[in-house]
Amino acid sequence: MELLEAIRRRRAVRDYLPDAIDEATLDGLIHAAVQAPSAVDSQPWRFVVVRQRAMLDRVAREAKAWRLRSESSAELRAHLENPGFHIFYNAPALVLIAAEHESPWMVEDCALAAQNLMLAACDQGLGSCWIGLAQDYLRSPAGKEVLGIPPAWAPVAPIIVGRPRGATPPHPRREPQVRWID
Ligand SMILES: Cc1cc2nc3c(=O)[nH]c(=O)nc-3n(C[C@H](O)[C@H](O)[C@H](O)COP(=O)(O)O)c2cc1C
Repeated sequence: MELLEAIRRRRAVRDYLPDAIDEATLDGLIHAAVQAPSAVDSQPWRFVVVRQRAMLDRVAREAKAWRLRSESSAELRAHLENPGFHIFYNAPALVLIAAEHESPWMVEDCALAAQNLMLAACDQGLGSCWIGLAQDYLRSPAGKEVLGIPPAWAPVAPIIVGRPRGATPPHPRREPQVRWID
């Protein structure tokens, strides 16, 4: 797939087949992720890959409960309170991109790696979605402990990956507002 086609076709996928994603495929996505640029070439990204169903469900459950404690949006609260709402949409894999430690550019660096990973997934016919709702929990000592993440790591981007159950319609983009200075 051409790069521009992947950029146009990538969607936030929220409905997955249960098919497991093999280690080699996920490893390929991670190798695409680390091609991202990083400030002063620090390459701060670290990866945690969760494919164990029981662990995915546990993290989804605990992240939902964690988020509910602080969520002020009534709409999001209603989603989170729905017992049928799986915060990872039952995806078969979660790739958490974390920085090795807190640093001024860690969010930019890890977000660029995340975008590479999501585009590479699209190129492979896979769906992905950044799950911001899980971030607070994954950054907490409790979340890090469940995943066995070193306390110094700073989780930035939880990305679910899986085989899409169907097509995801695009969200139309607003026309870019540009101030041209020629
Ligand atoms: C930082 C970030 C956090 C996001 N968090 C969530 C989330 O928690 N749950 C979810 O379903 N989608 C989440 N998304 C996906 C966006 O809702 C999605 O990208 C947006 O609606 C545009 O749709 P598209 O990606 O298909 O173009 C997140 C995206 C980003 C970049």
